Amino acid sequence: MYSEKVMQHFKTPKNLGKLEHYDAVGQVGNASCGDVMYVYIKVENDAIVNIGFETMGCAAAIATSSMVTEIAKGKTLTEAKKITRDTISKELGGLPPLKEHCSNLAADALQEAIKNYESKKQ
Ligand code: FES
Repeated sequence: MYSEKVMQHFKTPKNLGKLEHYDAVGQVGNASCGDVMYVYIKVENDAIVNIGFETMGCAAAIATSSMVTEIAKGKTLTEAKKITRDTISKELGGLPPLKEHCSNLAADALQEAIKNYESKKQ
């Protein structure tokens, strides 16, 4: 039911784990399934130079977390703000309809991390 790309990211996730040095963190949870995701970012010159994640969740949640970190790494904060669940799902070759909400979690965790960073800067 999962695309090959989803399986790849689930089995060998990229950027897995909390960063030792990070500037901000985004935490989101899905009340209906109970899954939780953390995205850590390190920012330099308004760009995401390093990113890591911790996810306690389903296979799709792990694959979407991995993919969102891949897409966001190296992007400016302005570019990263444009990353949505659709961006993630498309890059993964689609998700089963029942698992679409998992990509929401990944996109939201990234956006929360950016918000957290910007709120600290003020
Ligand atoms: Fe909850 Fe996938 S089932 S994030």
